[in-house]
Amino acid sequence: MIRNDRLTGPRLDSFGKLSPVLILAIESSCDETAAAVVRDGHEILSSIISSQIDLHRPWGGVVPELASREHLEKIEPVVDEALATANVKLTDIDAIAVTQGPGLIGSLLVGVCYAKALAYSLDIPIAGVNHIEGHVYSVAFDNPEIEYPALALIVSGGHTNIFRIAREGSYEIVSRTRDDAAGEAFDKVAKMLGLGYPGGPIIEKLAFDGDARHVKFPQAKISDGRPDLSFSGLKTAVARHVRENEIVPVAEGGEPSQQIKDLAASFQTAVVTALVSTLEKLAHKLEPRTLIVAGGVACNLALKKAAESAASKLGLPVYFPTKHLSTDNAAMIAAAGYFHLRNKNHADLTLTADISMRLQNTGIDEAALKKGGVRYRL
Ligand code: KG4
Ligand code: ZN
Repeated sequence: MIRNDRLTGPRLDSFGKLSPVLILAIESSCDETAAAVVRDGHEILSSIISSQIDLHRPWGGVVPELASREHLEKIEPVVDEALATANVKLTDIDAIAVTQGPGLIGSLLVGVCYAKALAYSLDIPIAGVNHIEGHVYSVAFDNPEIEYPALALIVSGGHTNIFRIAREGSYEIVSRTRDDAAGEAFDKVAKMLGLGYPGGPIIEKLAFDGDARHVKFPQAKISDGRPDLSFSGLKTAVARHVRENEIVPVAEGGEPSQQIKDLAASFQTAVVTALVSTLEKLAHKLEPRTLIVAGGVACNLALKKAAESAASKLGLPVYFPTKHLSTDNAAMIAAAGYFHLRNKNHADLTLTADISMRLQNTGIDEAALKKGGVRYRL
C-alpha cells in the first residue's frame, strides 16, 4: 500500500537546516522536457532542456498527443543528463520539485508521475509548483535579490498576466489578457504571414529590418476601464491589413518582403507598447520596489528595452531572466520549489497534474467580476 505520509518524514523536517540543499526539478508542462539540479534555490548546477520545436513545427503549433509521447521518451535521459552534468548521484538529491500545472494534461502527467516515483523511491520531499510562479522565479538567478512589493509581468505563449507580489509567495493578479496571450499573438500572426513556428523569435528577427511606423495599429481599449490587456483585436487588424494590401504570405523557404518586415515591426511595437504602458500605469498606482518581466516573450529585445526605459523613468530596478531561463526550463521550477519546501508547503503522493492551476489567489472576487460581465478566456 502507498502511504501518503511517506514524504513528510524526518528529512522534510530537517530540510530548512540542511545546507547545501540540492533540488532536482522537472518541467514538462508543454513542449519542453527539462530537468535541473539547483543548490539552495539559486545556484544552477545543471539545466537541461530538450525542446520539441522541430517535432511540432510541421503542424504550426503544439500537438498534445505528440508532446506527451515525446516527454515519455525524453524524461529519463534528460534527468540522467541533469544529474551527470551537475556531477551528483540521485542519492545526493534532498528534494524534488515538479511543475503541477497549468499546461497540457498528458505532458504534465509525465513529469508529475516521474517526479513522484523518484520522491517515493528516494524517500525525500516533493513540491508541486505552479508553472507561472516558476517564471516569476526565473529571475532568482543572475539578478540581485528581489525587494517586495514587486510587480511582475509574466508574458508567455499561454499566459499574459501582471501580478502584485506583496511579499514572497503572495500573488494578486492586477492585469490579465481578456483573450490571447501575447506569445500566442506572435505565434498566430507569424502563421498568418507564413513565417513558421514559434512566431516570436522569427517576428523579432524580421522586425530588426522593418519600419515600426509603417502601420499604426490602435491600442485595445477595455470598455470597463480595468487595466487589462487584449490581443485578439490586434490579430484581426493584422489580418485586415494583409487582406487590404494584398500581402502574400512567405512561401516555404522564401524570402520575406519589406512589406512583411514592416508589418512585423509594427505588430511587435503594438504588443510591446500595450504590455509596457500597462505595467508602467500599474507601477505608478501600486508603487512596487522591483519590476520583473519574465516568460518566453521576455527574450524579446524590444520588450526588454521598453521595460528598461519605463523602469528608469520610474526609478525602479527591473529584472529579466537570462535567455536560457526565459522559455520553459526546470531551474525556475527548482527555485520556486525551494521556497515552498522551506515553508513546509510540500506535497504527498496524492499530488496530481492540474491543468487549470491558478496563481491569482489574493484580493480577487472572481464571482463579482463575472457578474459585472468581465470575461477572461485564459
Ligand atoms: O514561456 P514559454 O517558453 O512557454 C509558455 O509557457 O507558453 O513561451 C513561449 C512563447 C511562444 O509564444 C514564443 O513565440 C514566445 O514565447 N517567444 C517570443 C520570443 N521568444 C519566444 N516572443 C517574442 N519575441 C521573442 N524573441
Ligand atoms: Zn512557460
